[in-house]
Amino acid sequence: MEKLTDDLVKYKDYVFAKDLVNAEHIDSLQTFEIRDSDIFLVTYPKSGTIWAQQIITSICESEMGDVYPNNLEMMPWLEYIDKSSDYSLRPNPRLFASHLTPVLMPPGLRDKKAKMIYVMRNPKDNVTSYYHWCINWAMFETPKSFEDFLDQWLAGNVGASSWFDHIKEWHSKRDQYNILFLTYEDMIMDLKTAVLKICRFLERDLTEADINKIVEKATFKNMKNDRKANYEFIPEDILKKGQFLRKGQAIVRGSTRSFEERMKDMTLKFIWDMARQSE
Ligand code: A3P
Repeated sequence: MEKLTDDLVKYKDYVFAKDLVNAEHIDSLQTFEIRDSDIFLVTYPKSGTIWAQQIITSICESEMGDVYPNNLEMMPWLEYIDKSSDYSLRPNPRLFASHLTPVLMPPGLRDKKAKMIYVMRNPKDNVTSYYHWCINWAMFETPKSFEDFLDQWLAGNVGASSWFDHIKEWHSKRDQYNILFLTYEDMIMDLKTAVLKICRFLERDLTEADINKIVEKATFKNMKNDRKANYEFIPEDILKKGQFLRKGQAIVRGSTRSFEERMKDMTLKFIWDMARQSE
């Protein structure tokens, strides 16, 4: 792994938080056995990962039982080293979260049997959320200023590399996977419709009452008080409390032209651009 900064390393063209990964584990994902019943949540960091995680874990809770102390253990991050878990011993359905790009993911996902949900968020709110995250996450150096962090984020010199490349990579390879694309803004605008969309994609036939319960559990206010979902189980010397659930809003004000320029070769129409165009 090539050292980039005191906290970041580069491996196979992707930037990782140094303390969370090793090359051997990342390489082992190339032979990681995928099951048809596996469910993967993939995001660029700060795109609403733990929000979608709360929805997916709630949808699958009745099948999985109340055996995990929190959402992180119910849906662990595939790429982070977790010595306590041998995922091959887990019963179905297995849930995983990941920030990886397609080339680093287990090739078995291309068989299109396992289900993948990709959640993205508009770039302005993403970089703002990421900036605050770096201030409060002990593993990362505190950014010198927002402007400086923005430069690093634009250049892809942050954990998970470039926001632009992440979305483009996954979207351009979408035909190889059984994948549902959703946005943070979809969830903000209509949480129930987003939950129903995820349920349908996962082929889980839940009652109206179950759906309403999941929507309730996934509101910002309720997640903040949900000890399985609020990540306050992470020691405060690593992450200041309240950082995974910081503001929880879609703001996107002002021009996103510089971002659009870099995404113009994509066929995907972003909901935040469409909302602005109709203003
Ligand atoms: P902000 O920092 O803008 O508040 P991730 O889980 O990918 O790290 O993303 C974290 C972002 O998702 C944070 O954004 C957080 O507040 C937001 N988020 C998490 N749960 C949410 C919810 N239930 N409703 C709205 N936003 C939520």
